[in-house]
Amino acid sequence: MQAIIQESFNGIEDLKIKNINELRVGPLSALIETKYTPVLPYDWRTETGELRNIRPVNLPITIGYSFSGVVKETGIMARNNLMGRKVIGVSQSGTSQQINNILISPFLFTLPDDVSLAEGATIIGGADAALSAVRKIHAESGDTILITGASGGVGTYMIQFLKMRNVHVIALGHPQNKDFLLNVGADEFIDYTSNLVNQLQAHPEINRVLDTVGRPELLSTISQNLNNLQIISLSLPNFSTTKSDQSFSFTQGPIMPGDYKKVIQQLSNNELHAYIQEIFDFKDVIKAQNISKNSHSSGRILLQY
Ligand SMILES: NC(=O)c1ccc[n+]([C@@H]2O[C@H](COP(=O)([O-])OP(=O)(O)OC[C@H]3O[C@@H](n4cnc5c(N)ncnc54)[C@H](OP(=O)(O)O)[C@@H]3O)[C@@H](O)[C@H]2O)c1
Repeated sequence: MQAIIQESFNGIEDLKIKNINELRVGPLSALIETKYTPVLPYDWRTETGELRNIRPVNLPITIGYSFSGVVKETGIMARNNLMGRKVIGVSQSGTSQQINNILISPFLFTLPDDVSLAEGATIIGGADAALSAVRKIHAESGDTILITGASGGVGTYMIQFLKMRNVHVIALGHPQNKDFLLNVGADEFIDYTSNLVNQLQAHPEINRVLDTVGRPELLSTISQNLNNLQIISLSLPNFSTTKSDQSFSFTQGPIMPGDYKKVIQQLSNNELHAYIQEIFDFKDVIKAQNISKNSHSSGRILLQY
């Protein structure tokens, strides 16, 4: 079978599509025909070595953190009611390959008929991170929250989870995404390309910030131009706020299996929407990752297998 392999820390352009051995199914495992994997910053940041301190890897590796697919074989001690089912899951040892051999765990989830495999592939590394951060910031009605990176795979879910809590949401984004972000559910839009200081000062009611961009200079501008602020970042481990009535923390908390099931149910009920920017064949991973890294986002880019 074919897989996307990282052999160096030279970045996206050095990724290779290679043939690797298919593993036999173990007694408690399932063989899953991969249908989609999400293009995550986690991958292209690992490919440059940027994450070496928090995610040390011994090369070569198969890239990818999560997948959606269809179960084609289960081990003799595994639940065989999974056969033929649509599932989503994770693997620390890489998922960007045509078949995933996964130990059946509470973190393998089946999808109902009305949640597509493409929609399912946006949950892990997107909805889960968003839900965890929204819980961490204890948002409630009356709060006004600014989201940086609002148009991304995490940000589009953050907007929706915050609106479920009746929070007033201001999305920071590129002007080409203004209508998109208002359609996702943001109440207001701030354009990060012009007069950011003036736009922030026009919103003294902002009392919390959820940051997915992780740029200290952006957070400094926000911190200098607002008061009484709680900032939670998913991307920047450390930051010193400029005022004493402000706090900063980093988050990477998990969510529980029951939370994933609820998110899947919310997608099924149309209470949540999965925003998919574009789908590429997995052999076009270099193009897909370059677009993810260098172009403006409107949801999640997926690779198809
Ligand atoms: N801690 C955790 O548990 C956890 C979990 C998942 C993800 N993350 C991190 O969260 C971050 C976002 O992930 P994602 O999957 O949502 O990424 P994504 O889909 O690529 O979206 C990135 C977002 O950041 C914005 N952005 C990028 N550069 C910017 C800049 N210079 N100024 C303003 N906005 C900028 C993009 O806006 P434009 O489209 O306008 O460029 C886009 O909205 C990543 O750093 C990822 O590693 C952390």
